[in-house]
This record gives sequence, C-alpha cells and structure tokens, in this order.
Amino acid sequence: MSDIENVLHENRFFPPPREFQSQSRLSSEAAYQRMYKASIDDPETFFGRVANELPWMKPFTRVLDWSQAPFAQWFVGGQLNASAICLDQHITTQGSAKRAIIWEGEPGDTRTLTYAELHLEVCRFANVLKGRGIKRGDRVVIYMPMIPEAAMAMLACARIGAAHSVVFGGFSAQSLKDRIQDGACTAVITADGSFRRGAVLPLKATVDEALTGLTGVKNVIVVQRAKNKVAWTQGRDHWYHDLLSRASSECEPEAMESEDLLFLLYTSGSTGRPKGIVHTTGGYMVGAYMSAQYVFDLKEDDVFWCTADVGWITGHSYIVYGPLANGATIVMYEGAPNTPHQGRMWEIVDKHKVTIFYTAPTAIRTFMRWGEEIPAKYKLNTLRLLGTVGESINPEAWMWYHRNIGRERCPIVDTWWQTETGSIMITPLPGITATQPGSATRPFFGVDVAVVDEAGRELPANHGGYLVIRKPWPSMLRGIWGDKERYVENYWGKFKTMYFAGDGARRDDKGNFWILGRVDDVINVSGHRLSTMEVESSLVSHAKVAEAAVVGRPDELTGQAICAFVTCVGDVKPDDALRAELMEHVAREIGKLARPSEIRFSEALPKTRSGKIMRRLLRDIAAGTETVGDTSTLEDFSVLARLRADEE
Ligand code: WTA
Repeated sequence: MSDIENVLHENRFFPPPREFQSQSRLSSEAAYQRMYKASIDDPETFFGRVANELPWMKPFTRVLDWSQAPFAQWFVGGQLNASAICLDQHITTQGSAKRAIIWEGEPGDTRTLTYAELHLEVCRFANVLKGRGIKRGDRVVIYMPMIPEAAMAMLACARIGAAHSVVFGGFSAQSLKDRIQDGACTAVITADGSFRRGAVLPLKATVDEALTGLTGVKNVIVVQRAKNKVAWTQGRDHWYHDLLSRASSECEPEAMESEDLLFLLYTSGSTGRPKGIVHTTGGYMVGAYMSAQYVFDLKEDDVFWCTADVGWITGHSYIVYGPLANGATIVMYEGAPNTPHQGRMWEIVDKHKVTIFYTAPTAIRTFMRWGEEIPAKYKLNTLRLLGTVGESINPEAWMWYHRNIGRERCPIVDTWWQTETGSIMITPLPGITATQPGSATRPFFGVDVAVVDEAGRELPANHGGYLVIRKPWPSMLRGIWGDKERYVENYWGKFKTMYFAGDGARRDDKGNFWILGRVDDVINVSGHRLSTMEVESSLVSHAKVAEAAVVGRPDELTGQAICAFVTCVGDVKPDDALRAELMEHVAREIGKLARPSEIRFSEALPKTRSGKIMRRLLRDIAAGTETVGDTSTLEDFSVLARLRADEE
C-alpha cells in the first residue's frame, strides 16, 4: 500500500472572504509562513512563547524533553491547573460577567452561566468531590448527558488534581464497565437520565449495571436531570444536589505538574480492547488553547458551538478546554438534531446568535437529506465561520454546507486530528487559507506532517501513502494507560522515529493534504472510531456464532457502515430472527453506535493458507465492487463465490 488509490479531483478554490479576512486574527499568507517556519525550525522558542500566554503557578524551566522518545515531556518543571486556566484567569478581569456557557436542553429549557457563576459552581463541585474523599491522583469516570454539569465535573476533577475519564453516554454497561476497570477508577459521576428524542435515556441504570461485581468504585454522584426513577445503593450513591448544599464555594486549584495526568479518553485501535489515551496537563492545555484561538479565530464576542458530545475528544478540546482557556462563550445542546423538528440546530443558532459552528460531515449529510428548505427558514446571519471534523468531507456535502449554512459568506475549516493528537493538526486558517472542498489543507503550527511510503520515505506530490508526524507536539498523547509497549508498538512501531496516525493521505502540488481514510482495521462510523476486532469479539461471544469478520463499507450517510460476515456453530440455521438478535447483542455489548447495519451469514470465511481472514475481499464484497487483486492464496474459492451469490 505504498500508493493508495485516490480518485478525487477537486479544482475549486475558495479564498477567505474579504470581509472575514479584514477582521481575522491572522490574515496574510506571509504571517502563516513565518509562524509555521518558526514553529518547525525552533519549536522550543515558539511553544515556550505560546505557553507563557497561560497563567502558570510555577514557571517551566525547559520547554521539551524528548530524551525518552517516544515519551515526551513538555514544559518541564512548570506547575499549572487546567481549571484555573479555564476559569480563574477570566474572573480577575472584567471578564467575570461574560457568558461562559449557554446551554439548551432538548425540551427547550435553557441555562446561562457567566464565568463568575461557572467558577463558583466548579469550586463547589470540586468540594463535593473532596467531601467524598476523592483526591489528587484518583481517576473519576464521567458518564453524563450534555448538561452544564458535564463540563463542571471535568473542570472540578481538574481543579482537585483528579483525572477524568469521560465515557460517552451512548456506550453500553459493558463498555462502561471495561473502562472503569481499565482505569481503576474509584468514583463515577452520572445523571439520573437525559432527554434524547423526547424519551429519557436512563444513565444511572446503566451505571448500576456496569458496577455489578465491581468493588473499586466507592462513590457514585448523581446529578438530577430527567427526574426518572432510579435504583439506589445506600452508602455508594449520592445525589449531587444533596452534597452541594453542604459544599463551600471556595476551592483553591491544586498546583499540578505539567506532566501530571489530566485525563484518560478511550478510543478504538486496530486490535483488541479500547485504549486509554493518556493526556497530561501542560502540553494538552497549550495545544487546546492555541488551536482554538487560531483555527476558530476566537474573538471577544464570539459564540462558539461545537456540536460534539463531551464524551469524545472534540468535546474535550473544543467544548471545554480550548474555548474556555480563551475566555470564549460556548453553546452546549443536550438533545437530538431533529427534536422536536428538523430545524432545531438552526433555531438554536439564531436563538443564541451563534457565530462559529463546528460539526461532523455525517451530521451535514443528514441535514442535506432533510432538505435545504429547512435551514432556509432561518436567518443564520450571525454565523461567520464553519468547521468540520471526524472524517473527510465529501465535496458535495462541503458545497451544501457552504451554500445553505454559510450562505457563501463563511469560511469552512476542515480540521484533521485524533484523540491521540489532542488538538487540531491539519487545518485551514480561516483568514488565510484558500480552502478546497474535501481537503484539510495545511499543517497547523508546530505540526511536521508528511506522507511516506512503506519504507518511510517521503512521497512526491500527489502520491497516496501513510500520514506521519515527524516531530513531537505539546498536546500529543503520552501513552496508552497501563501499557507502555502497546503505545510504542501502535504508534511508533511502523516507522520508529515518526508517529504513524493510522490514516492514509496525499499531499497535492500546492501542499494541501487530502486524507484518504484509515489504513488499519479501524472503521469510522458517523465520525466515531470503532475497531473491527471489537465488533468481531462481541459477535463471537454470542453462543450461536462460530466465527465473525467485520469490515466497513462505504455509506452515504455515516461515511462507513458496519458489515459483518458470520458463520454459525453446529446445526444453527441462520435466519432473520438470529440476524436481529446478533445486531441487538452487539448494541448491548458495546453500544448502539457499534450495531452492524448488515449481517451476512456464510458457511465459512475466505482465508489465506496461513489462516488469515481475507478482509480485502470481504470489503469488496461488502461494497459490492468487483474483487480486484490476487486471490491465489485463497483457501477455498467456493466460499467467495457463495458469499457473492448471497448478495443476489
Ligand atoms: C478521522 C476525532 C479526514 C481520521 C477528532 C482520524 C478525519 C480519526 C478528519 C480520528 C478530517 C478526523 N478529515 N479524516 N478532517 N478528522 N478524521 O480519534 O481517520 O475520534 O484518524 O478524533 O478520524 O478520530 P478520533
């Protein structure tokens, strides 16, 4: 795969609109070139300067220590607190009356918190945690709906020096349990329930199920949101509002070492169980702060809405840490985009006068399907900048977004990055870069990115290859929780001195990057990473399944869809009932986001002589395209023929 096929030919260019450019933070190509060059030639000076824009409790003595590569240490010797950066620094100035969070519940209830109010709430929340014996160095799971308390819980953990591990509310009890166990977490913060599509999602019940048989969790703190009935374990479970009434609003932020753990966030890799990605305090905060500022051109009066859930890295970096470190106003929305109607998102944009809107291509394709007459009913005149993240955006969706949401007035920043990178790596700068539908364009400051072949040699323009990063950057992951070797092997095993991101890419002759998708066994469904292995092991854990192979196939709406090939044990006769049962099984085990959209039964799976499942073939079958390439090692051609015949 030194030369990944790339079929996209896109010749449209969109220079930054003059009006946007005249007011943007950075507006000249020369400024980008100068800053980019400085950041690559002398990263220590560059990042030392950026880091010093943040309030440190103790200054760092060294910007980067890379002597233990690939384990980086940034801002060595410095002490800081992430919640103090997000809150305290803004309340000492006139900023305290500025809105920090504008929240909209699915039923239409709203809440606004100024920086002063958020600061107070976070201090009280921090004291609630302390009151339950949670302390510096502990790890706390946050399993929450999109309510302000989710952000407060993260900041409260950071304030007392406990690391958070946010688990997306759509994950099943089993997935939650795995994450609690892997992180050896001692407390869980959750809510009774959340509103989703008019119904109540019972989060506390899922936590109860996840905790059966676990002894390590001493405290479950429950925020009341949906007022649904919940079961109660005396001594372990506590209502947040009860504890809060006794909590003081004074809480000094803990002085954390730059390299102290800020959070764990689990993500799928190509093999085995999810990986707990490790992010530490100083470098992560510098990356989130700097990227939010430049990529979103954040200004004093912006209202920034990132539609991700806090359960994903996008929510960590661009709902909570990045914007708040910049003192920005953020919008948080609890519910579904079509509840109670398909114009809900645009209604919120108009209602709260959103100026920057950041979402995922899969959401844009959904809006497209609902029709352009929906956004046409709204003004959308406060918007000045749009963004996308999660997968490559198809040019058709880009153009639709540009016309119907941006009204041909707003630049679009297509931002490439990962849970592991912590912050945006490849992106246009909205006042400078001429964008092209489908391209994430150019590396951000300090990001030394390249496209290489199998041997690690940089490829010439327009050749597809592996996307690598050649220099350490502040917000890079510091490892995989509890598994040093897996970190080294996973990310540095292939090219030794270069971080390999798992994606294929091409750089064109103008220097723009085009991301070609994953080259490993990770599938990207609606911008969410899933490993084919995870879904396979869930399938084979079902008593009637002997073997399973899972591949992604292109899907118009979700980018990729999960297609599973399953062979049954003994004399089990596969039928539609079993198909439905297996789909449910996976949804229950991992979460609804992993439910296969298609299951094909087969008597055997195509394998090489050495017994490896031939995924490439299965991918072609799933996609319905002609099988290409070498099949001479196939053990049994008839299997392939039968799988194909099954399609008819
Ligand atoms: C994909 C999300 C193309 C990519 C922040 C990456 C993208 C994976 C883009 C990380 C983009 C993300 N263009 N592909 N703009 N953004 N990806 O960890 O395959 O959930 O490796 O982080 O999403 O997904 P993750």
